[in-house]
Amino acid sequence: MPHSIVIFGASGDLTQRKLIPALYQLHRKGRLPDDTRVVGFSRTKFTHDEWRASLTESTQKFAGDNFDAESWGEFAQKIFYHPGDIGQAEDFAELDKMLVELEGDGESERVYYLSTAPRFYGPAAEMLGKSGMADESNGPRRVVIEKPFGTDGETASKLNAVVHSHFAEHQVYRIDHYLGKETVQNLMVLRFANSIFEPIWNRNYINHVQITVAEEVDIGSRAGYYETAGIIRDMFQNHILQLMMITAMEAPVKYAADPVRDEKVKVLQAVRPMTPEMLTADTFRGQYDGYLQEKDVAPDSQTATFAAMKLWIDNWRWQGVPFYLRSGKAMSCRTTQIVIRFRRPPHMLFENTSRNCEANQLVIQVQPAEGIQMHFQTKVPDQGMRFRQTDLDFRYDREFRGVMPEAYERLLLDALEGDASLFARADEVEAAWSICDPILQHWQNENQPPVYKYERGFWGPMESTEWMRETGREWFDTC
Ligand code: BG6
Repeated sequence: MPHSIVIFGASGDLTQRKLIPALYQLHRKGRLPDDTRVVGFSRTKFTHDEWRASLTESTQKFAGDNFDAESWGEFAQKIFYHPGDIGQAEDFAELDKMLVELEGDGESERVYYLSTAPRFYGPAAEMLGKSGMADESNGPRRVVIEKPFGTDGETASKLNAVVHSHFAEHQVYRIDHYLGKETVQNLMVLRFANSIFEPIWNRNYINHVQITVAEEVDIGSRAGYYETAGIIRDMFQNHILQLMMITAMEAPVKYAADPVRDEKVKVLQAVRPMTPEMLTADTFRGQYDGYLQEKDVAPDSQTATFAAMKLWIDNWRWQGVPFYLRSGKAMSCRTTQIVIRFRRPPHMLFENTSRNCEANQLVIQVQPAEGIQMHFQTKVPDQGMRFRQTDLDFRYDREFRGVMPEAYERLLLDALEGDASLFARADEVEAAWSICDPILQHWQNENQPPVYKYERGFWGPMESTEWMRETGREWFDTC
């Protein structure tokens, strides 16, 4: 069956930086279904050749060493363009006509990728529906919707309603590129394709869990977006809660879209609702020095570029185990890691050594040094019963040859093949907002909590270290 992927917002940054390079790599690896075409749609008046030429340049830049003229030449033949406006029904009718001409008369599979400004997600879904392009009588029709999905629970639920009035849920693919990362998928493999971790993956053995997504970059030229988003909407509602769900979920009955998503949603449903006291004590926000001087940032902006929080998951597995989540821009280094901190041994039989006895720790390095480390105590040779912490260290780059694929490769292929396991479901997105909304509302009350300043290149505000210490724990600040 012919496949088409139509990118709305084709002249945008994401298309050039991520979508086209990912589709091109899929082509190079021979993974794109035969007879696939990529059609761009946006207001810029490109011809097919002009769009191809602009993509040649951008893909050369973003694909780097993974670009070669021959395979690009083949791939470029699959690229087409249709200028159009999301508000114009005639433009959708013409686009549909062009797709039918390219695909031929029979059945076809189509993916509509909404990579536009978020305010166009609803209108685009509506136009696709009204023009009959969501109708599946001539083959599968799927819509991929980029983040941010709404700006709070209410807008997300309205957007879901608009989308659902034209597409059934099985046709909707809400993308979160963190789910396309190899190491995030490997977290499921680590937990559910091994038998040694699951028995200890619970409150009986785990003291707490830390999830950190630190970025070295600042907001760059994205102030317009970032001032309205801030760190909670930009990173927590989506990426960080996704990492938490996969860390905390029960084993699904099988690896398929609904069983996986059922278990993930249950985690969010079990998150203890925050009282005003918890919101004050257990959430923390910061802003890097110099943020207020960034272009287009309000001089008195309270936007958080760093946040940390403690969540509780009220179920049998996790009762009493805090989950510490944090993320920030302009931090010490780029690192995403999940740290499982186990309990200390219940009784120390080696005299005078208990002070050195660090709890065991499993560190899942999501990026950039993808791997897993297990920290455990080992006897120092020839020094009585002294011991110190040592590591079992698994690194992807030592174990597997070849570069890690971009998250978008996996996700685009899954969308083309109709596998929604790594995409968020409607209820999941709304449940994630129900955790973030009270925090955002609480932070709107002036100085609740204060916005702590931090120097660029640090692990967030000093106060966040103190905040953690008060709980008798320490952040795992390792690049
Ligand atoms: C995006 C955020 O979703 O994720 C960005 O909007 C952030 O602000 C990016 O920088 C981080 O993604 P990654 O894959 O580089 O960790």
